[in-house]
Amino acid sequence: MAKFTRPTGTQDILPEDQPYWEHVLACVANVARDYGFARIDVPIFETTEVFARGVGAGTDIVDKEMYSFKDKGGNDITLRPEFTAGVMRAYIENGMHVLPKPVKLYSTGPVFRYERPQAGRYRQLHQFNAEILGEQSPLADLEIMLIAWDIYARLGFSNLAFQLNTTGCPACRPGYIEHLRAHYQAHHHKICDDCKLRIDKNPLRVLDCKREQCQPVIASAPKMIDHVCADCAAHFAELRAYLDDLGKPYTINHRLVRGLDYYTKTVFEVWAEGIGAQSAICGGGRYDGLIELLGGSPTPGVGFAAGIERTVLLLKAQHIPAPVVPSPPVFIAYLGDAARLHAVRLLVRLHEAGIGAQIAMSGSLKSQLRQADKRGARFAVIIGEDEIAQGVVVLRDMASGEQQTVPLSEIPQQLKTK
Ligand code: HAM
Repeated sequence: MAKFTRPTGTQDILPEDQPYWEHVLACVANVARDYGFARIDVPIFETTEVFARGVGAGTDIVDKEMYSFKDKGGNDITLRPEFTAGVMRAYIENGMHVLPKPVKLYSTGPVFRYERPQAGRYRQLHQFNAEILGEQSPLADLEIMLIAWDIYARLGFSNLAFQLNTTGCPACRPGYIEHLRAHYQAHHHKICDDCKLRIDKNPLRVLDCKREQCQPVIASAPKMIDHVCADCAAHFAELRAYLDDLGKPYTINHRLVRGLDYYTKTVFEVWAEGIGAQSAICGGGRYDGLIELLGGSPTPGVGFAAGIERTVLLLKAQHIPAPVVPSPPVFIAYLGDAARLHAVRLLVRLHEAGIGAQIAMSGSLKSQLRQADKRGARFAVIIGEDEIAQGVVVLRDMASGEQQTVPLSEIPQQLKTK
């Protein structure tokens, strides 16, 4: 029979990688708590329209990458390709606008995108995601960038820098797009076929094209920053002033437009070397029109998401070890059938006392002690028939090999004090 394999673009997160994942998730939860973010969990699937509207028809995510299907009730369903649109749906549906502003929310979990798999790019990936709702001030943009920064700093990363841009707002972006279109039309014969389509369908994305032939046209393209309205310019200047004052490294990247339609004003990413073709480990920005677009009252928002797979790849690339997850400290070995029963009872008593313990399931006493060693136990408790008759067990320190006889009834207490 043919062997089953996991679907393309998915991963098994094996036990040896779990310490990295636990470490990243614990760090996210700690930093989120320190910044006053509350956790929200939204469904893994939503009505397709939430993403079609929220992320935007015409984006690669909506047009090419969504896992969409009709369920057995005939409803159009999509596995979430990101968190933001679903979190906004939940904000509106649960009347969260009545909460004191700003409302700060974070989430972690799987998202799904039918992308071409390559190093650091998956079809089932996991994100941590944070959003600040109801605050127009650039301080909210700053806080979102700082929380992303802090998570990476606390994980021990070095050599990271922000890529930053502004994408304007509905007042100034259409004017900029006209300049961009005119530039592209003047160089129509030099650009790739995809960009020829993009210029009508999703004009900002032409700046993002990786094709060699488009690079000179992109380099000479008009820049958003030269066409933003006074409000967007002031917003961007204030954010930059905070970043300058704090000494956070950033590069203004006029080509940074991001692949989702909802952005207004600030967009940013954090880039890192060493994780394959796709080098952004996190990305985000402001989306002041999104809640209204999804049927809520006008509410500004800003947020970011980071890929956990890429974060773990980067931890490894930068040789940052995950904290060691300790093995249960006690291993119970025994000799003979009668002793086995006492061993099982002791196992249950130790667990009731909150002491991590494992029991040998088979093998000679010698092989049981070898197992204790392999499993990283600090102590072996050895139960033999003679010892049972005397109501004692042998407690062996696995590192030193030192053994002492201890009354069976005192074992949990003795192990606790050790
Ligand atoms: P995004 O840039 O599409 O933004 O994704 C954020 C991060 O998810 C990326 O920087 C990357 O680390 C990771 N990621 C995305 N696609 C893949 C993939 N195929 N394989 C591995 N990792 C991937 C968003 O999702 C927005 N919702 C962020 C946001 C929140 N903006 C405002 N609030």
